[in-house]
Amino acid sequence: MKIQIITLFPEMFTGVLGNSMLWKAADRGIVEYSCINLRDFGLGPRKQVDDTPYGGGDGMLLRVDTLAAAVEVAKANDPSAAVILPTPRGKTFLQSDAKATAASGQGMIIICPRYEGYDERITQWVDKQYSIGNYVLTGGEIPAMIIIDSVVRLLPGVLGGETSTEIESFQQDDQNIEFPQYTRPEDFQGLKVPEVLLTGHHAEIEKWRQLQAKKASE
Ligand code: 6GU
Repeated sequence: MKIQIITLFPEMFTGVLGNSMLWKAADRGIVEYSCINLRDFGLGPRKQVDDTPYGGGDGMLLRVDTLAAAVEVAKANDPSAAVILPTPRGKTFLQSDAKATAASGQGMIIICPRYEGYDERITQWVDKQYSIGNYVLTGGEIPAMIIIDSVVRLLPGVLGGETSTEIESFQQDDQNIEFPQYTRPEDFQGLKVPEVLLTGHHAEIEKWRQLQAKKASE
């Protein structure tokens, strides 16, 4: 899967995409990340990518012409890719969206807005608009990383066999099926591991885990 990120701050991605499972996925050839620097499409000697809003208002907006030029380049690299716009005005991104994206086999082109936003006309180039929750962030880079992380971990061959992506929290969008877990030491400053987990009774342990998961989702 090709993942292309259109951003003014490509350095933000080096840490996140260059470590742990996201890095491993690329190392194994399952995904290929590339950043397209929006600045390269800027206008004039100062490579301007933003401008003031028509009708007045605070701040600057990303221009549609520079954004569209970057999207066209990304599309030429991967014509069937889905174009994704992280925006607080989008539909909330859920586990079901991550699953559908991972299963689609389509690449992703993610546009990361900055400043006060973007010219609305860029949505003509966009397939999906997602918010990641009810709070306001300074740009689309962190939402892009969240979307990438949630999708890449679902691709076949990314996670080891020990962590089933089928049995975990938020498998259903609003149903938490994860239970608390413990490892050594058995007693830490008087905090003890629940007795049932030490018994070796698999049926009892399973019953306890299901009860705990149910409690957590209430
Ligand atoms: Cl996708 N972008 C920004 N700037 N803020 C957000 C968001 C996205 N989702 C929640 N808050």
